[in-house]
Amino acid sequence: MNLEIVILAAGQGTRMKSRLPKVLHCVGGKPLLEHVINTAQALVPSALHVVVGHGSEQVQESLAGYDINWVVQPERLGTGHAVMQALPSIADDSVVLVLYGDVPLTRQATLQQLVASAQDGPALLTATLQDPKGYGRILRDSSGAMVGVVEDKDATDEQRLLREINTGLLAAPANDFQTYLPRVDNKNQQGEYYLPDIIRLAVANGKSVASCTAESELEILGVNDRVQLNQVEREYQRRLAEELMRQGVSIADAARLDIRGSLTCGEEVFIDVNAVFEGAVTLGSGVSVGANCVLSDVSVADGTVIHPMSHIQGAVIGRDCSVGPYARLRPGTVLADGARIGNFVETKKANIGTGSKVNHLSYIGDCDMGSGVNIGAGTITCNYDGLNKHKTDIGNHVFVGSNSTLVAPLCIEDQGFVAAGSTVTTTVGKDELAVSRSRQRNIKGWNRPDKRGSKD
Ligand code: UD1
Ligand code: MG
Repeated sequence: MNLEIVILAAGQGTRMKSRLPKVLHCVGGKPLLEHVINTAQALVPSALHVVVGHGSEQVQESLAGYDINWVVQPERLGTGHAVMQALPSIADDSVVLVLYGDVPLTRQATLQQLVASAQDGPALLTATLQDPKGYGRILRDSSGAMVGVVEDKDATDEQRLLREINTGLLAAPANDFQTYLPRVDNKNQQGEYYLPDIIRLAVANGKSVASCTAESELEILGVNDRVQLNQVEREYQRRLAEELMRQGVSIADAARLDIRGSLTCGEEVFIDVNAVFEGAVTLGSGVSVGANCVLSDVSVADGTVIHPMSHIQGAVIGRDCSVGPYARLRPGTVLADGARIGNFVETKKANIGTGSKVNHLSYIGDCDMGSGVNIGAGTITCNYDGLNKHKTDIGNHVFVGSNSTLVAPLCIEDQGFVAAGSTVTTTVGKDELAVSRSRQRNIKGWNRPDKRGSKD
């Protein structure tokens, strides 16, 4: 049978106290709704409908890349009303799965089970909670068969003691929605059209309702405020870390790792505490990432060590390199194999050749550097004249002495040598030595100042 999925995402999310629509708040760097869309896609539905209301334009824009039938619910009249809006675009012979845009951690297997149970009638995902407050409670008859759902606000004191709750996620043949949804009214405490009311109506029609349970409570955790957003974030991060560890990655502390995107690792990778990975990051085999590093959209080849406190963005790092501690690699940095970038070095749009070293306190921007180069401490490529950026070309086996300023556009050819403290403004030819600093003068018989500063 055809599967169609409806994601409810029209809620305002007042308790988030945010201008951003709730479902656009991120977990693991990705909007809540996108997590649900990705889970839905994994079930390969024939159509995916998303019901939006509050901030609908912003939501649609943010997720424009997806093949989605957007359904706008202009007024938020309840979950039943929300599904009603999508119903006209749903094929009669399909099974419909209803998900919430603010419940991002449900596992694919749980949903598959739910759909499989809904081939002939409604099936509900339930959970038994220690504290069921706020949730709709599952009503069962003396034989244990489900007969309905009562919302917390409509429940009697006795019903409130029930701990089996409605997670809100349900599936049913499209036919059942078509039959029962139009009969749902809003005569209840909240004046809303409740989706779970179709259960009571189906049972009254002699249908039996199936129920499935989630593996863990965390699967059904919904986000209403920033406390719950954080609970979901930490659970999501815990899952990612566990997955990586099962793949053979060593993680110093799984609770102090944040992956806001995708992290792909080779064998024998070690990640120390407080590492943050954003965007797409790839770490080759044997790579080690030190404490307090942030890597955004970076690929690191085998055997490279990233020392602590390094911030690396949009860089491609070769094999057996050494980066940091305290390195800042900005977008467009490419390190060839064996390159070394040391402490307090900033690079940007820089190709650093094989085995070349920039070990201390330097800025290398808009620069092509050959192999076997040594850049002394305090070297600056002066790439900006206040208006335009200019390039510095450095050949192979060049040596730049400490505290040199290389004023671009500039070329230092192979084996060129720059004496320490030089300001270099014109081409340094192959094998040439450039010295550009005032000659040292030694003054004989000079009287040092005494303690009072006078020179008598
Ligand atoms: C709902 C269920 C309740 C269940 C709980 C689980 C109903 C009536 N109640 O209650 O049994 O225990 O979820 O969390 O269904 N939404 C819309 N349009 C609307 C109303 C809601 O799109 O008009 C969306 C919301 O954005 C949200 C979801 O539906 O993603 C659930 O709405 P919410 O208001 O949170 O329902 P609850 O009162 O929590
Ligand atoms: Mg809710």
